[in-house]
Amino acid sequence: MKRTIVAMPGDGIGKVVLPEAIRVLNAAGFEAEYVHGDIGWDFWIQEGNALPDRTIALLEKHKIGLFGAITSKPKDKAAEELDPKLRGKGFVYYSPIVGLRQRFDLDVCIRPCRSFPGNPLNFVRRSREGTLEEPKIDVVIFRQNTEGLYAGVEWTNPPDQVYQALMTHPKMKAFASAPREELAVSTRIFTKRACTRIVRAAFEHAKKFGYKSVTVCEKPNVIRETSGMMLKVGKEIAREYPGIVLWDTNIDAQMMWLTKNPEDYGVIVAGNMFGDIVSDGFAGLVGGLGFACSANLGETCAVFEPTHGSAPKYAELKPSIVNPIAMILSACMMLDHLGETARAERIRSAIGKVVEEGKVRTYDMMRLPGSAKALDQGAVSTERMTDAILDRLGG
Ligand code: NAI
Ligand code: MG
Repeated sequence: MKRTIVAMPGDGIGKVVLPEAIRVLNAAGFEAEYVHGDIGWDFWIQEGNALPDRTIALLEKHKIGLFGAITSKPKDKAAEELDPKLRGKGFVYYSPIVGLRQRFDLDVCIRPCRSFPGNPLNFVRRSREGTLEEPKIDVVIFRQNTEGLYAGVEWTNPPDQVYQALMTHPKMKAFASAPREELAVSTRIFTKRACTRIVRAAFEHAKKFGYKSVTVCEKPNVIRETSGMMLKVGKEIAREYPGIVLWDTNIDAQMMWLTKNPEDYGVIVAGNMFGDIVSDGFAGLVGGLGFACSANLGETCAVFEPTHGSAPKYAELKPSIVNPIAMILSACMMLDHLGETARAERIRSAIGKVVEEGKVRTYDMMRLPGSAKALDQGAVSTERMTDAILDRLGG
């Protein structure tokens, strides 16, 4: 069956890496039609909406999206760049990817962090004997994607009702002397439904792929209500999976343990903010942003995207120097989701070969400063990296 995929390159290097992933999908024989979805900074400037309704309609219809990256800027900066014709008309900037996750309730975010042997960016550590060890890392982070600190329920100078309600909490006494206009409040709201969905997705993944542990990474000793709820749900659900151990760690300690024993972890599950933090932490051990892929899954719709942003300073370089692997691995996650696992594995294996051979590396893999000069220093362009992957795909 020929699929229809909504291709949303966004802006910056999103426009560079998404076509590369499609090139690989085509070469791997994945039969699909790609329809273009407008999203990102250009549409904010021109229309006052970085996520136009027509793009939402495309996703409603086709249900599967591939997303590159977008540029996001703080509200005030965004307002300054808006087309002068639209200024002062009440347009407010919101990140379209956060909007997309909320609009389609893409509440389960999966971020695998698996080291490719031979990647010079892999984490190494000194052993007791003084030799270098390169632990094989294979961690999958399940990040709740729609709630918590990203839900957007926040105020500076909260309105009367909110302020008075807050003041009924005994702990608010500590803030009673702060002038209202100097008070900023960002709420962290968790629901049991969303906690249950993310924790269950994590356990199901562990069961399907043979991971031995699921770690709830939160901070329940301090953030008792929300982190406490996630851990409680973790304990309840863990009973249904007797073969999988439940660990719980605090986000701060987990970040410290990252470089101590990263190979000990399997599946990690966390709320929105801590999931974002811990996944960037693990991604740093297996190649960084050039390798970090993700899936955003809802009940009816799914969007696949690299973790990196639009890297504006590299967006205009011709030829482009950025690493397309994160985007290509995200496309592999789309194939997994569509049941095309064998094809996804073929692509991942081709990437593995290119990395292991070590002849073809983008600037980030060579730890070079990102500039056109990197190409004279032995780094390859984005396109050549994809070509190398295509070569390995064939043979
Ligand atoms: P970024 O991820 O765009 O870039 C940070 C640095 O990482 C780059 O300067 C580059 O050195 C490196 N990098 C990123 N992707 C790479 C790749 N594929 N290959 C090689 N190196 C790569 O993050 P930054 O600079 O904080 O944000 C730039 C813009 O992107 C901002 O407007 C931000 O809001 C937005 N952003 C968008 C995201 C999304 O679309 N989901 C996620 C993160 C940031
Ligand atoms: Mg992030």
